Amino acid sequence: MIVGVPKEIKSNENRVAVTPAGVETLVGQGHTVMVERSAGAGSGFEDALYEKSGAKISSAAEEIFAKAEMIVKVKEPLPVEYGLIRRGQIVFTYFHFASSRELTEGMINSGCVAIAYETVQKANGELPLLTPMSEVAGRMAVQEGAKFLEESTGGRGILLGGVPGVAPANVVILGGGIVGMNAAKMAAGLGAVVTILDISLDRLRYLDDIMPKNVLTLASNAHNIRESIKTADLVVGAVLIPGAKAPNLVTRDMLKLMKKRSVIVDVAVDQGGCVETCHPTTHENPTYVVDDVVHYCVANMPGAVPFTSTLALTNATLPYAVHIANEGYVKAAEENREILLGLNVIGGKVVYKGVAEAFGLPYVHVEQVLR
Ligand SMILES: NC(=O)c1ccc[n+]([C@@H]2O[C@H](COP(=O)([O-])OP(=O)(O)OC[C@H]3O[C@@H](n4cnc5c(N)ncnc54)[C@H](O)[C@@H]3O)[C@@H](O)[C@H]2O)c1
Repeated sequence: MIVGVPKEIKSNENRVAVTPAGVETLVGQGHTVMVERSAGAGSGFEDALYEKSGAKISSAAEEIFAKAEMIVKVKEPLPVEYGLIRRGQIVFTYFHFASSRELTEGMINSGCVAIAYETVQKANGELPLLTPMSEVAGRMAVQEGAKFLEESTGGRGILLGGVPGVAPANVVILGGGIVGMNAAKMAAGLGAVVTILDISLDRLRYLDDIMPKNVLTLASNAHNIRESIKTADLVVGAVLIPGAKAPNLVTRDMLKLMKKRSVIVDVAVDQGGCVETCHPTTHENPTYVVDDVVHYCVANMPGAVPFTSTLALTNATLPYAVHIANEGYVKAAEENREILLGLNVIGGKVVYKGVAEAFGLPYVHVEQVLR
């Protein structure tokens, strides 16, 4: 199969969908890989590395879209790319269709086979192509929180770990899933006193088993949240209710209970945030202050660390890309239910129920289209 890797054109997106190591794997299995010039530069992969791995470098995205049977990307195609995508061409990337009617209609009209990273799903419900980005964002949440707790950046001027004779900071984490667990690991490693709140007692039991002694677990309810944020120096928002807006666990009136110049990092901002006063910010201007509390609400946190994020993402996506390239999407989906669940749009038909429902579009069962 001819696999195409265009350069990402979304603003501030420095990740690339396939690394030189990935090219070597695909080429080793008999595929041709076309990589757009400087596609990997933002992640530290120069064209020469791709060429050495067997890729063909192309200067034009148009040429890649015209020749490739499968396009592998990171972010959803932008309107200027819709017209380049061909009927029957596989596009394997993050789409997040439910957030954009324009994108959904663009892909329906293109006739392509859209396989969405975010809906590839394991039998246990895990979303293996979202997990790596949650791991990055969770770990970053504490790094950013520590930075914005510094005096010069508007914070309280407190060191997360304290020093001998001086108490460490209190870190409160709302949601103990992938983001929350990774944030807790980092904060605990720095020596902070960490409290994780979650509604799942099973999850809290698990976290209690594996976390060090400076991590406490607490059932998530309005009372416990209100009490915990009173003493918090850093609050990390990490809740997720799949397919729904995040609940407002910290309301505006609760901010008054918090210490002055404490910091909130609301990682859940991409689902509307779990703090009422949260609105999306960018890496250029990541924070703002409400009621003396610093808010950090960057919606694409992994974008700040493209070297790490590209490797984390491609470690997870490559095996699926190889399977699809080796077998074609029909056989790959028949052999691997995780890939089947990634299918969102095929030849103009919406085959993922949630996407059809989001826009009142006709839904066709995926098996009906594959048969
Ligand atoms: N800003 C970014 O750059 C970025 C990057 C990656 C992920 N995210 C977002 O971070 C959020 C968390 O992702 P995740 O992968 O950790 O999800 P996850 O499903 O692994 O974890 C979510 C946790 O929230 C818990 N939860 C649900 N309701 C709760 C409540 N009322 N109180 C406390 N806990 C509650 C769940 O039980 C679960 O353990 C998502 O919204 C995700 O989209 C943002």
